[in-house]
Amino acid sequence: MAKNIVISNSLPHEAIRLIPGDFSLDYNDSDAPLSKAELISRLKGRSGLICHIISTIDDEVLAAAPTLKVVANVAVGYNNIDVAAAKRREVIVTNTPDVLTETTADFAWALLMATARRVVEADRYARSGQWKAWKWDLLWGADVHGKTLGIVGFGRIGRAVARRARGFDMRILYHDAVRVDAAVERELAATATDLETLLREADFVTLHVNLTPDTRHLIGERTLRLMRKSAILVNAARGPIVDEAMLARALREGWIAGAGLDVFEEEPKIHAGLVPLQNVVLAPHIASASRDTRIAMATLAVRNCVAVLEGKPPLTPVA
Ligand code: GLV
Repeated sequence: MAKNIVISNSLPHEAIRLIPGDFSLDYNDSDAPLSKAELISRLKGRSGLICHIISTIDDEVLAAAPTLKVVANVAVGYNNIDVAAAKRREVIVTNTPDVLTETTADFAWALLMATARRVVEADRYARSGQWKAWKWDLLWGADVHGKTLGIVGFGRIGRAVARRARGFDMRILYHDAVRVDAAVERELAATATDLETLLREADFVTLHVNLTPDTRHLIGERTLRLMRKSAILVNAARGPIVDEAMLARALREGWIAGAGLDVFEEEPKIHAGLVPLQNVVLAPHIASASRDTRIAMATLAVRNCVAVLEGKPPLTPVA
């Protein structure tokens, strides 16, 4: 099998150096996404692609790359790839599960805590010279300990978020298409509920589902109106799971109290209605962005690509 790969954007050298010497490499060492035309042109005659979520690998790209054998996404989510089309064309798709679970769960918690305790507002206040005297009623936030956490999507990351919640003595509700084993529910003290009950009862709602046609705008007008006025929403999954325009309205009009968002519907654009609001914490899609984890993700993607092109099974194919 030909061993020539395209790397669509920058990767750490710790990962690049794992590419064997007999592979040829077309490496776009840049953070700027390749246009579709450029990607197609670079893929001519190539057998492997390692890419980030900023590359859209649709049927048109796959059709134009008949020699392609593997697309290794450097992410756990793979909504940027038409997996059905890849399967039809016998192209293997891989992702990077597990290595980012704990780091992503840490960041969902960072957003939850920052929003509940108004950390970003406090930083802005302290830095801007507004702090003239200690005030006992300054920047009151919401308690986290002892509250109810609603986890929508109880896969690897959702469960890692639940494990952390135990240290805060929280009541944990979860909603998922698949009910987890009773032993896992017991270990995490998590109770399965329907989505409506979760949204009505949770003080914090955190999203950990994949983006699919079923989860697009899962959080929209109807579901936001079910939430408590004091509730905080956290999204470190995918932007389009939330109807951003409706969320901006909900935050402005007080249907819910706050939101911590790492992902957006049209990244890197952020809905203009969200930017001026104080009760939302915004981050530029960095939930898995610790140094160790990003290197582990890149390394896993390279290993997947190399394995396929050496005729071995991929480590983490997309099911
Ligand atoms: C990041 O968004 C990922 O899916 O890994």
